[in-house]
Amino acid sequence: MAQTAMRGQPPRIFLTGASSGIGAALARHYAARGARLGLVARRRAALEELAADLPGTHHVYDVDVGDAAAVAAAGSDFIARAGLPDIVIANAGISVGTLTAEAADLPVFRRVLETNVLGMVHTFAPFVAPLAAAGRGTLAGIASVAGIRGLPGAGAYCASKAATISYLESLRVELRASGVKVVTIAPGYIDTPMTRVNAYPMPFLMAADAAARRMARVIERGSSYTVLPWQMAVVARVLRAMPNPLFDVLFMRAGRKSRGSLR
Ligand SMILES: NC(=O)c1ccc[n+]([C@@H]2O[C@H](COP(=O)([O-])OP(=O)(O)OC[C@H]3O[C@@H](n4cnc5c(N)ncnc54)[C@H](OP(=O)(O)O)[C@@H]3O)[C@@H](O)[C@H]2O)c1
Repeated sequence: MAQTAMRGQPPRIFLTGASSGIGAALARHYAARGARLGLVARRRAALEELAADLPGTHHVYDVDVGDAAAVAAAGSDFIARAGLPDIVIANAGISVGTLTAEAADLPVFRRVLETNVLGMVHTFAPFVAPLAAAGRGTLAGIASVAGIRGLPGAGAYCASKAATISYLESLRVELRASGVKVVTIAPGYIDTPMTRVNAYPMPFLMAADAAARRMARVIERGSSYTVLPWQMAVVARVLRAMPNPLFDVLFMRAGRKSRGSLR
């Protein structure tokens, strides 16, 4: 973190999806190390409760990442109050089962893609030009191993996470000469409210605090692409290389995320 912080200033971090799970764990991790945080999510009460528990001064934004103007306003406010961030983490996301044949799932597809893909674009947009002008900073996106292969019953989520992986790669290459790093993190199973509802086995399940520590190290290094934990990185490599006929047979009966409505 010392490398990314401006000399003499506490590091400044703008973080979406901070009200729960991985985001809250990242907030606790960074606040314990003196960071000044911009905490973004829809549930203001949960953000305020978190901020009240954290050491230091933080800023709370109850914003839907699907609303580009609202995220831009939050970003500008954070820059005005705290200064240009050293790290921006686009972590907000939703996961729910979807089936293309079900008409009721069409708005769910739209919502998942708006939140997980456009939400990431909206989160980075206010910061790209000022960070590039300053020649520093890290933009970190939380993708998923679910973006590596398409899993049955999870078309919206898998498509959204595959899109984030490609989007982050485009951004990384676009910004390569600017001094701004772009970090893609693809977690396996992390123990959060998102996964606690899953009724199928979750190999290599990782505690959120441990995941946050690993993510912070990856962000500090500016690594371009990391799957975690390492066991899942091995699985991800095998899955990526697996021929379609074998993948199809192995995964046609895989456990499925429940379909459902979204907030
Ligand atoms: N848990 C895992 O195993 C796992 C694995 C791979 C990737 N991921 C990814 O990691 C990220 C965090 O997931 P998590 O497991 O920590 O889930 P979580 O506990 O459900 O947290 C999701 C966070 O995103 C926020 N959020 C959702 N929709 C939002 C919106 N439209 N606008 C603003 N904030 C929104 C939620 O806050 P509000 O409800 O207050 O808005 C919450 O803070 C997600 O992108 C997820 O896809 C998780």
